[in-house]
Amino acid sequence: MSSSDERHDKPDNSAVSRRNFLKGTSLALTIPLVTGGENEVKAAGADVPILGPDKVNITLNVNGAPKQASVEPRVTLLDALRNDLDITGAKRVCDRATCGACTVIMDGKPIYACTTLAIEAQGKKIRTVEGLEQNGKLHPVQQAFWDNDAQQCGFCTPGFVMACTALLEKHPKPTPEQIELGTGGNLCRCGTYHGIKAAIAQASASRLTPRTAPAKLTRGGKSNG
Ligand code: FES
Ligand code: FES
Repeated sequence: MSSSDERHDKPDNSAVSRRNFLKGTSLALTIPLVTGGENEVKAAGADVPILGPDKVNITLNVNGAPKQASVEPRVTLLDALRNDLDITGAKRVCDRATCGACTVIMDGKPIYACTTLAIEAQGKKIRTVEGLEQNGKLHPVQQAFWDNDAQQCGFCTPGFVMACTALLEKHPKPTPEQIELGTGGNLCRCGTYHGIKAAIAQASASRLTPRTAPAKLTRGGKSNG
């Protein structure tokens, strides 16, 4: 399953699937290596630096602001957000590209943060649920989830909100098929799908434009979590 119609429309290149994630890891392990420095080696015959296993400094653009962290190259975007940057809106549930609780928007497309390496996310525009609120006002999708009681425990909700936001930015008036594809990569154990679909219908009445730089973060820069 995937967390958006993007991933259904373009399964090969619109997101890092678990399979590609593992293939990439395997590839990195099988490339012949030559020493290139204390913490850096290069693939033999190629001018491609391979970082690690020690920590490396990275910069992530999260909700319009540069964020620095020092992480091992194996660290996922989800772990970097939650553990290093204290941005905890994206949730860890399955940790294997199945449930969508970790969904964030990267360069306009919803992705599973649990199967995206943090170092790969450098140079991309990452948006998390913390970046949706503007000037103390909930984003239309957040407001629609609230109005339609589209959550129970709420653990899946940030991922659903991000998947729905990406869906409506791409398809302001989504068809039932587009809604199915756009939310098909997200699971709600509480079964709030009826409310989520009602929220999408309400939010689709609002004109959504991509947002990258929130004027104000919620709850000191992080959501419940
Ligand atoms: S899909 Fe990432 S935590 Fe479930
Ligand atoms: S509201 Fe509980 S898992 Fe979705």
